Amino acid sequence: MLLALCASSAVGCSTVRPLDEGRRCPTEAACATVHPPGIADPNSPDFHVNLIRALAFDLSKCQHCHGDDFAGGTAQKSCLGCHEQGVTACTTCHGQPPETGAHLAHGKRFDCTACHVKPMVYTDVGHLFAEDGTVIDKPRITFGELANASLHAGDRAAPAAIEDDSCKNVYCHGDTFHDGNAKLTQPDWSGGSASAACGTCHGIPPSSHTRTNCAECHPKVADSNYNLVAGGPHVDGKVSLGDESGTCLACHPKLSGAHTAHTSAPHRLRPPLACTECHVVPAEVTSPGHIDHTTPQVFPAGWSGIAAAGGAMPAFDPPNGTCSNVYCHGVANVPSWNGDESAAVCGACHGIPPADSAHATSKGLGDCYKCHPSTIDATGSLIVGATSTHLNGVVDGP
Ligand code: HEC
Ligand code: HEC
Ligand code: HEC
Ligand code: HEC
Ligand code: HEC
Ligand code: HEC
Ligand code: HEC
Ligand code: HEC
Ligand code: HEC
Ligand code: HEC
Repeated sequence: MLLALCASSAVGCSTVRPLDEGRRCPTEAACATVHPPGIADPNSPDFHVNLIRALAFDLSKCQHCHGDDFAGGTAQKSCLGCHEQGVTACTTCHGQPPETGAHLAHGKRFDCTACHVKPMVYTDVGHLFAEDGTVIDKPRITFGELANASLHAGDRAAPAAIEDDSCKNVYCHGDTFHDGNAKLTQPDWSGGSASAACGTCHGIPPSSHTRTNCAECHPKVADSNYNLVAGGPHVDGKVSLGDESGTCLACHPKLSGAHTAHTSAPHRLRPPLACTECHVVPAEVTSPGHIDHTTPQVFPAGWSGIAAAGGAMPAFDPPNGTCSNVYCHGVANVPSWNGDESAAVCGACHGIPPADSAHATSKGLGDCYKCHPSTIDATGSLIVGATSTHLNGVVDGP
């Protein structure tokens, strides 16, 4: 067996002689002749790493003399002095991970299984040896679940793969997003850190987006300055929206200004208003008209609600936070969305009574019911509840 070895070894064969099975070395000098002198010298062509590779990693050949546990055996030379973790440990032949290519860049977060089949023991089929026992001479890339993830139906043309040192169709690098704003979605394994910069895998923002403040919709992943949130769910195979509750409230836990005043109607001027009275309410997050604008859409084109009753053309002025031409408030008035409650008191929207020919100025609250009985009672209180007709879009009169 060792003779055959010798025949394939260019160096030192003359000094090597076979040892009988089970024989113990009588002297240290005698033992030295088993291997060429360079067997433990990393600079020698006879270094045992080369021997092992030439033997196609068949370590049983060494165990024969050095013991099944490599602790010395009949050779009385332990391997474990140098290989403290054991000869077949995962770190003996290569690092976990190796320091090659982009291994260290991925190493902290991704297990080998993200890109390889990981052996339990070094002899597992597919690691060093093929099914037929021959040595596999190339590392194998077998991309895992994340690299093959998909966000939208039809977004990936083919499974993740590596060709000519470059990764293709890999989800993690955004190659399946087809995002025109992304700079580098097929990175080179040996290409350095360029592929880790913001804007490489997907645009900032992606080309499908209108809005640029990631934190507005992805607060668990990025802040308003495009810094990633430490430990956040970035590159985990799904899009993180809002507080991740999966409901509309995920991004709308608390609404601004006079929302509650309108949607809960604490002033009892009329029943609560639905969201649709001022907005087009999206069926889904990505429905048209929702997040495809840079400002919230109030009274958008095509919408209809009570604010447009009587032919009014309501408008919201974002910089000033005011509404104008709103039927409900009297078209001449300009109430403030973030103002105080003065817009909800009697007299704010119309006079008590209104100053027009239908009303004598002498009339007071106690008189209104005479001509508006479904709206107001004899004590001058608005009638609230299911039969309420105040602020319903039509004048309920005599
Ligand atoms: C026929 C028995 C035999 C076989 C098979 C054998 N060795 Fe050895 N090996 C020895 C003996 C004996 C010594 C001690 C020589 C000496 O005293 O330096 C030794 C020494 C070594 C040393 C130097 C140890 C040290 O502490 O300096 C290394 C390294 C080594 N062997 C590696 C291997 C490897 C790797 C294999 C399998 C490919 C192998 N040996 C197969 C008998 C054997
Ligand atoms: C004098 C220290 C020393 C002794 C003794 C020693 N080795 Fe090594 N061994 C090394 C060094 C150094 C390396 C190379 C490690 C590296 O490149 O990081 C190595 C590498 C290896 C490798 C990795 C091979 C590869 O393909 O990368 C194996 C397997 C191995 N030794 C087996 C053995 C066996 C079996 C014995 C005992 C018979 C043994 N070694 C004894 C120092 C030693
Ligand atoms: C992000 C993907 C990825 C991860 C994670 C990864 N590898 Fe690799 N690995 C590669 C690629 C790509 C190559 C080079 C393939 C080629 O050259 O064809 C490679 C090559 C290797 C090689 C051959 C030596 C080399 O550097 O070319 C070894 C050994 C290896 N990987 C071990 C590991 C181990 C062990 C782990 C886990 C601790 C790991 N890899 C994690 C992608 C990965
Ligand atoms: C006897 C040497 C040796 C031992 C021990 C060893 N490996 Fe490897 N490993 C290799 C070689 C050789 C390759 C192929 C890369 C190459 O060609 O450079 C490799 C490749 C890998 C790869 C890349 C995928 C592949 O199979 O090509 C992974 C992952 C890996 N090893 C994990 C491990 C783990 C985990 C252990 C411990 C259970 C381990 N290795 C023990 C020699 C070894
Ligand atoms: C106004 C809300 C909103 C803002 C702001 C926003 N996103 Fe998104 N983003 C979404 C929604 C909703 C999806 C899910 C789209 C889908 O499922 O079709 C998404 C999906 C993504 C995706 C997955 C790619 C894809 O094709 O779906 C990436 C990457 C992304 N956003 C990055 C960003 C970055 C980077 C920013 C900041 C520069 C940002 N987003 C700002 C709402 C937003
Ligand atoms: C290595 C590729 C890569 C780089 C570099 C990258 N991203 Fe991403 N990013 C993704 C992937 C893949 C997604 C898809 C969603 C997921 O799996 O988390 C994503 C999604 C996002 C999202 C949407 C929320 C979510 O679910 O993760 C935001 C926000 C985001 N990235 C911000 C950033 C910022 C800010 C940077 C730069 C600091 C950055 N990304 C750099 C790959 C990358
Ligand atoms: C009376 C009209 C009105 C009603 C009813 C209304 N909104 Fe609004 N909404 C507005 C106005 C005006 C703004 C603009 C606020 C700004 O830009 O300062 C707005 C803004 C928003 C915004 C942007 C974020 C914010 O809080 O400013 C969201 C989200 C929103 N509304 C959701 C809703 C939902 C959900 C409902 C129903 C529960 C609703 N709105 C009912 C008028 C209304
Ligand atoms: C990913 C975060 C997110 C989710 C989830 C979300 N929205 Fe929004 N929504 C926004 C943003 C951002 C705005 C614009 C707010 C602004 O400009 O201040 C908005 C605005 C609105 C508005 C105001 C009108 C408009 O379109 O500008 C309404 C109404 C609204 N959303 C309802 C909903 C409903 C209903 C759902 C559930 C189907 C929902 N939202 C889910 C982020 C989200
Ligand atoms: C004598 C009968 C009468 C009394 C009393 C009366 N109204 Fe009217 N009111 C009318 C008529 C008639 C109209 C319809 C006018 C029109 O269609 O042009 C009207 C319309 C209105 C309108 C609609 C806006 C407008 O100016 O046309 C408001 C608001 C209103 N009344 C409030 C009041 C209040 C408040 C009181 C009590 C202080 C009151 N009315 C008492 C007869 C009356
Ligand atoms: C937010 C604006 C607003 C406030 C505040 C308001 N109203 Fe009105 N009111 C209207 C509008 C608009 C109409 C026009 C008719 C309609 O749509 O019901 C109206 C109509 C009326 C009418 C005529 C009958 C009818 O409903 O058509 C009476 C009476 C009336 N209001 C009494 C009051 C009283 C009393 C108060 C104070 C408790 C009050 N209003 C506060 C907006 C307001």
